[in-house]
Amino acid sequence: MSGQRVCVSDFEEEARRVLPKAVYDYYRSGADEQNTLADNVTAFNRWYLVPRVLRDVSAVDLRVSVLGQKLSMPVCVAATAMQRIAHPEGETATARACAAVGTGMMLSSWATSTIEEVMSAMTASLGAGGVLWLQLYIYKDRELTLSLVRRAEEVGYKAIFVTVDTPYLGRRWDDMRNRFKLPPHLSLSNFSTASLAFAEGNYGNDSGLAVYVAKAIDPTLCWDDIAWLKQHTRLPVIVKGILNGEDAVQAVNYGVNGILVSNHGARQLDGVPATLDVLEEVVQAVQGRCDVYMDGGVRRGTDVLKALALGAKAVFIGRPVLWGLACQGEQGVIELLELLKEELRLAMALSGNTPTHTHTHTHTHTHIYTGTLQCV
Ligand SMILES: Cc1cc2nc3c(=O)[nH]c(=O)nc-3n(C[C@H](O)[C@H](O)[C@H](O)COP(=O)(O)O)c2cc1C
Repeated sequence: MSGQRVCVSDFEEEARRVLPKAVYDYYRSGADEQNTLADNVTAFNRWYLVPRVLRDVSAVDLRVSVLGQKLSMPVCVAATAMQRIAHPEGETATARACAAVGTGMMLSSWATSTIEEVMSAMTASLGAGGVLWLQLYIYKDRELTLSLVRRAEEVGYKAIFVTVDTPYLGRRWDDMRNRFKLPPHLSLSNFSTASLAFAEGNYGNDSGLAVYVAKAIDPTLCWDDIAWLKQHTRLPVIVKGILNGEDAVQAVNYGVNGILVSNHGARQLDGVPATLDVLEEVVQAVQGRCDVYMDGGVRRGTDVLKALALGAKAVFIGRPVLWGLACQGEQGVIELLELLKEELRLAMALSGNTPTHTHTHTHTHTHIYTGTLQCV
């Protein structure tokens, strides 16, 4: 471990130094020219927090209820594939870290640990206790898809986040140039055949993952498939990858239990808006009929506060968790999550947010009046 890590960028810088280039590239990169990748982060800088003072901020309350589960903070872990290429303990280390901190983890369908292993790691961990949700890709093989859902139900996962922005994989230039694939000792652990486990020897002259998606994932997906999924599970279903009000209304009409505003960490379609910039439109369209969450570019406690102020119930973080894992496994993820928690606590306190003030925010074009937690 190198010097003290005081912000998320310190984790990224250290991870860049310890990870093999192709792995760092896979984790970091976005689609095409990566304009949206940059915009996801800079969108937060277009908003200003307007604090209130003299309000006794000694007892800030960060706890939140997400899909019926109590969490210690409104910052959760987004699905990121193949965590064992960041650290040998991969997803199991992340699950233990979430349990230690008391937050939720969305396990990728493309994990390098099984659904069952990750649940065992989380439940064996002492600490505040965490929650596991399954991120679901819908495969052409629907029985296979449902078998993932059943396995998650059986061992106690609490919700299904179905990803709706990946009928094909976005063009990620670094992965194409690196011909990205898993190292031979790893596979997508939830699948038993080499072709489904992304463990074939040769993916040709392309990003291996793009080839995999084209073969296995169902590009015919449409709204009726959301109804189909809901019919086949008793768990809450959240759609991951909504970017506008009209789709949000559709989602509500199809009875989803939540919406995750996401552009997949800008890895799918470059040129889409930053997620923070469409959050309000989605929140307004939904009108409280289900919870709205967001991910994309959240790197600081003040980012979290801005997203909450614009109507998100909680946020999810993708890459920062991978940097924590790469730096120091479970401890690295704990440190990363605690850092964001402390940054958020401080941001809430310094802007005058206390449990005794109502949790609505007001804002003008670019200024969020966080102190009053009411909006102009
Ligand atoms: C390396 C990597 C792998 C990802 N794998 C998945 C995945 O398997 N399923 C999925 O729905 N989203 C996946 N995502 C998207 C994340 O769930 C999330 O939407 C995104 O990372 C949030 O943006 P952030 O990285 O800026 O926090 C992945 C993102 C990254 C960076």
